[in-house]
Amino acid sequence: MRKAVCPGSFDPVTNGHLDIISRTSALFDEVVVAIGVNKAKASARLFSAEERIAMLEQACAPFGNVTVAGFEGLLTSFCEENGIKAIVKGLRAVSDFDYELQMAQMNSSLVDVETIFIPTSPEYSFLASSLVKEVATFGGDVSRLVPEFVLARLTERLAEKRSAAPGA
Ligand code: PNS
Repeated sequence: MRKAVCPGSFDPVTNGHLDIISRTSALFDEVVVAIGVNKAKASARLFSAEERIAMLEQACAPFGNVTVAGFEGLLTSFCEENGIKAIVKGLRAVSDFDYELQMAQMNSSLVDVETIFIPTSPEYSFLASSLVKEVATFGGDVSRLVPEFVLARLTERLAEKRSAAPGA
């Protein structure tokens, strides 16, 4: 049984993430999408861990071999606990590579795990959750970049934030 993990923050999940998850699901028997739940970073997130997990579960429902989980602490501990030997990451551009290579080498120095890089599809090479949030905050159209139900939650959350801090 070939099992892989697609880790990330997914705040929120984008069509770029789903492109990588979908292509990983075609290569492995089982895929776990693992959402980093770093409590120290919780206040910096737009969506809570529970909300991010729920959105990913909905977005990944069409893939029969994909499950979603949250993890705290090291990704390598999550891999060991779940019998996972492959970490799959999307690479958007050369600029992603330095840090991803460093993490891949650190992770494989800690436990028996390989990192596999999948090149992001060109139409998503500029896509990042942080940019989606920024563009949406200022009223830009991100409807082609996230699933429809994520767009609805994003719009709702940004409106809540605006009414909680008018003028901010
Ligand atoms: O979507 P992101 O923010 O690029 O995801 C980063 C994530 C969650 C995959 C990465 O920060 C991570 O693996 N965090 C878990 C903590 C860990 O294992 N740190 C050591 C990395 S070498």
